[in-house]
Amino acid sequence: MIDSHAHLQDREFKNDLDQVLARATGAGVEKIVCIGFDYLASRQAVELAQRHKNIFATVGIHPHDAKTLDEQTLESLYNLALKPGVVAIGEIGLDYYRNLSPLEQQKKAFVEQIKMAQELGKPVVIHDRDAHQDVLEIIKKERAGVNGGIMHCYSGHTPLALELIKEGFYISFAGPLTFKNAKKSHEVAQKIPLDRILVETDCPYLSPEPYRGKRNEPARVKLVAQKLAELRGLSLEEIARITSTNARNVLGMDA
Ligand code: NI
Repeated sequence: MIDSHAHLQDREFKNDLDQVLARATGAGVEKIVCIGFDYLASRQAVELAQRHKNIFATVGIHPHDAKTLDEQTLESLYNLALKPGVVAIGEIGLDYYRNLSPLEQQKKAFVEQIKMAQELGKPVVIHDRDAHQDVLEIIKKERAGVNGGIMHCYSGHTPLALELIKEGFYISFAGPLTFKNAKKSHEVAQKIPLDRILVETDCPYLSPEPYRGKRNEPARVKLVAQKLAELRGLSLEEIARITSTNARNVLGMDA
């Protein structure tokens, strides 16, 4: 399996990262994509990718921190994105649930980083919380999926997912897929094409059942894959193979 979205640089992992990585390997996780969310976290993701051959990095400014994206930071991010092991720009997008940066700044940072990804020829990893309409509009207008992209921890309906797939996107599911009341996500997971589905943890957040509320870690991507296998009537091995191939395709990672 490939955990397509993890925050290994989070301070939650500072005391036991080696054990966390060993458990991931033990659970059959062959690669982990460490996702940047601000400048420092992006730099730390790149450092982790340089130190571990099965870790890859993305660099980007999360909508929460959109207000920190000035011209100098954008240039530093661009230089960081040229380092080995960087497979995408992200996570970027819009978050109207917490609104930690003003709306106009969120949109500006989102668009600027889409343009940066295009200059670099890299895919984008998108965070969309309660902002489906605006995210879709910007994706279409900027042709954000031209080099591929990932909708991380997808929470929308099936028709939107299909529209995003047409724009070049992959749909990624995290721990909430395992929650009993996640009917909408279950439907999406059953109806979208198998060759556009990814699995992720978003650790240390979003632990799947039966660990809901606890610190999450890459080994638990297996529980998300298991739920997906159940929803699609396939074996865990088949889902693991398919989602890993998809992750390699969109992020350009070697087998
Ligand atoms: Ni995340």
